Amino acid sequence: MSGFNTRAIHAGSEPDPVTGAVNPPVYLTSTYAQDAVGVARFSDYSRTNNPTRAALETCLAELEEARHGLAFASGMAGEDALLRTLSPGDHVILGNDAYGGTYRLLTRIFGDWGVNVSCVDLSDVDAVESAFTATTKMLWVETPSNPLLNVVSIATLSAATREHGARLVVDNTFATPYLQRPLTLGADVVVHSTTKYVGGHSDVIGGFVATNDDELATRLRFHQFAIGAVPGPLDCYLLLRGVKTLGVRMDRHCSNARAVAGFLSDHPAIKKVYYPGLIDHPGHDVAAAQMSDFGGMVSFTLKGGVDVARKVCESTSIFILAESLGGVESLIELPSEMTHLSTAGSLLEPPANLVRLSVGIEDVDDLLADLDRALAL
Ligand SMILES: Cc1ncc(COP(=O)(O)O)c(C=O)c1O
Repeated sequence: MSGFNTRAIHAGSEPDPVTGAVNPPVYLTSTYAQDAVGVARFSDYSRTNNPTRAALETCLAELEEARHGLAFASGMAGEDALLRTLSPGDHVILGNDAYGGTYRLLTRIFGDWGVNVSCVDLSDVDAVESAFTATTKMLWVETPSNPLLNVVSIATLSAATREHGARLVVDNTFATPYLQRPLTLGADVVVHSTTKYVGGHSDVIGGFVATNDDELATRLRFHQFAIGAVPGPLDCYLLLRGVKTLGVRMDRHCSNARAVAGFLSDHPAIKKVYYPGLIDHPGHDVAAAQMSDFGGMVSFTLKGGVDVARKVCESTSIFILAESLGGVESLIELPSEMTHLSTAGSLLEPPANLVRLSVGIEDVDDLLADLDRALAL
């Protein structure tokens, strides 16, 4: 298999055989002329398949080292298609610091439908073990997690999940396949919000699900087509364009985040820095073993309370106050009042004064100076 960056640039994208155009055409079509009734050359309809979407799916599946990959209109749409393989009465174990939207989908949509959810501290192997029941079908893991950057061993959780006949699902949005490939570590399914690092430019919403399980892939393909939460060809093209530079962007995200985490660790206004690259982070050794670098996300709490945290978020000028992450530009946010508002009052609620940074690829000295100014106010 060729190297990651070579695959990111070439997998799924051949020069157009008719014109030689280096970039494959964006197939802006909803339907296809048929050669005879029921005889279509590629597909009968673009909800079923589209060549630009197929190119994206091939590329991302190769990057995740997966046999099957399916693109969706958003990360949540991909999660929904996967969770619809469950039945009422089934049980899911979710990490107690998961993305708020995943928690909301599981508890408020699938919960109403009869799926039971337990939220567990995934770093506590005994707690995970005792959370399994006879009806547990999935263990849903984010590593590193959003927003606390907790890291858990995919191999350890995979062994536990397998013993209970359930599937291990890993949300690989924060790490990306450049830093971590969960299927090679024993996960059964990988989910992504491609809105983030894969797209990389804060200009598109998308999702992706990858697996080596042929039967699961067939069910997911049916859900993708039957429910129809598919990305359009222009979105797929933006994602294909973004993913070509994933490796070089991630290198810079990681080195900038390392510098930001070091700077914050030494700053007198900061109480605690959450970054798996710091050697005192509880998941540092596991992260060093299962990831090739520590990612571009850094969270921190301040010595002051939520008012101080809010003020810092509103005082930066290069870090933009916004939800989302993984774009080239640095972002700052207050999870308890923004991305994780839906976890209020639950086990998943982050500390009120936790600030989350998506460290971009700007010049690092400018980022440090921006944070320094905001923290001094
Ligand atoms: C870790 C994680 N998973 C899934 C999602 C959902 O993805 P989307 O916003 O593309 O629907 C997000 C969104 O922030 C996320 O951070």
